[in-house]
Amino acid sequence: MLFSKRLAFIGAGNMAEALIQGILDASLLKKDEMIASDVTQSRATYVQEKTGVIVLAENAQTAKQAETIILAVKPQMMRAAIKEIAGVLSPEQLVISIAAGVKTNTIEGYLTQPLPVIRVMPNTPAMVGCSATAICKGKYANDDHLKWAIKIFEAVGFVVVVDEKLMDAVTALSGSGPAYIFTIIESLIDAGVELGLPRDIACGLTIQTVKGAAIMLEETQKHPAVLKNMVTSPGGTTAAGLHALEKNGLRVAILEAIIAAENRAKELG
Ligand SMILES: NC(=O)c1ccc[n+]([C@@H]2O[C@H](COP(=O)([O-])OP(=O)(O)OC[C@H]3O[C@@H](n4cnc5c(N)ncnc54)[C@H](OP(=O)(O)O)[C@@H]3O)[C@@H](O)[C@H]2O)c1
Repeated sequence: MLFSKRLAFIGAGNMAEALIQGILDASLLKKDEMIASDVTQSRATYVQEKTGVIVLAENAQTAKQAETIILAVKPQMMRAAIKEIAGVLSPEQLVISIAAGVKTNTIEGYLTQPLPVIRVMPNTPAMVGCSATAICKGKYANDDHLKWAIKIFEAVGFVVVVDEKLMDAVTALSGSGPAYIFTIIESLIDAGVELGLPRDIACGLTIQTVKGAAIMLEETQKHPAVLKNMVTSPGGTTAAGLHALEKNGLRVAILEAIIAAENRAKELG
C-alpha cells in the first residue's frame, strides 16, 4: 500500500462522524490515527467527546497531520474549505471528497497543484456500518489510491467502483435512497395504524419486513420479481395489494423520483 494510514476529516458533520465511528468499530484505524476539523465549536466538541478523535477548529492545521484528507463539508462549502488547506497539501497526500455533485476536475481545479483526488458517494446507513458507497478516481489518482479509498469505505459497508459519469445516478439512487425507503416505511407504519395496529407493533413489523426482504434478496440472489411471486397467491391478499400499488403508479413514481434527483444532482454539480 502506497499510504501510511492517517486520516484527516475537513468538516466533522454527520457523515464524518459516521465514518470515524465505522472506521473505529472496524478497527481499520485507531483514534490517534485520525483527526478532524469543524468550523462549529459545539460540533467539534461533540464529535471529539463521542469518538475520542481530536477535532480542531483549524482546517490547514488538521490537513497537515494526515496522508489522506477526507473533504466532508457541504458541496457549497467545498471551494472555501479547499482554499484553506490547498497551501499545506503535497502530492504525497490523497484528497477524498464525499460531496454530492462536485466533480473530481472541479476539486482538482480548486487545488493549486496536481494532487490525487478520489470522489466518493456514501449514504447515511454508514452510521450503522451499512453504507452503499460508489467510488471513482480523478486524473492524478492511481490504483493504490483507489484501493485505499475502497478499504476506508468498506469499513462502513458495501463499495462499488463506477465511472465518474455515473456518479449523479448513484447520488440519485443510493445517496438519496435512504430517504425514499424511510418514506415508504413511514407510509407502511401509518397504514398499519389506520387498520388498528398499535404504532409500536406496526413499526416493529414494518422494520422487520423491510429488513427481511432485503436480506432475502441478498442471500438468495434471486430476482425481486421471483421473490414477489412467492408471496402472491392467485386471487389472494397480496395480489389485491399489488393491484392497488400498480393502479396508483408506484413504479412510475419511483422512476420519476430518481430521475428528478439525478437532474438536481446535475444542477448542483
Ligand atoms: N448526509 C448524507 O446523506 C450524505 C450522503 C452522501 C454524501 N454526503 C456528503 O457529505 C458531505 C457532508 O454531509 P453531512 O451530512 O455530513 O453535512 P453536515 O452534517 O452539515 O457536516 C458538515 C460540517 O462541516 C462544517 N463546515 C462547514 N464549512 C466548513 C469549513 N469551511 N471547514 C470545516 N468545517 C466546515 C459544518 O458546520 P456548519 O453546520 O456550521 O456549516 C458541519 O458541521 C456533503 O458534501 C454531502 O453532500 C452526505
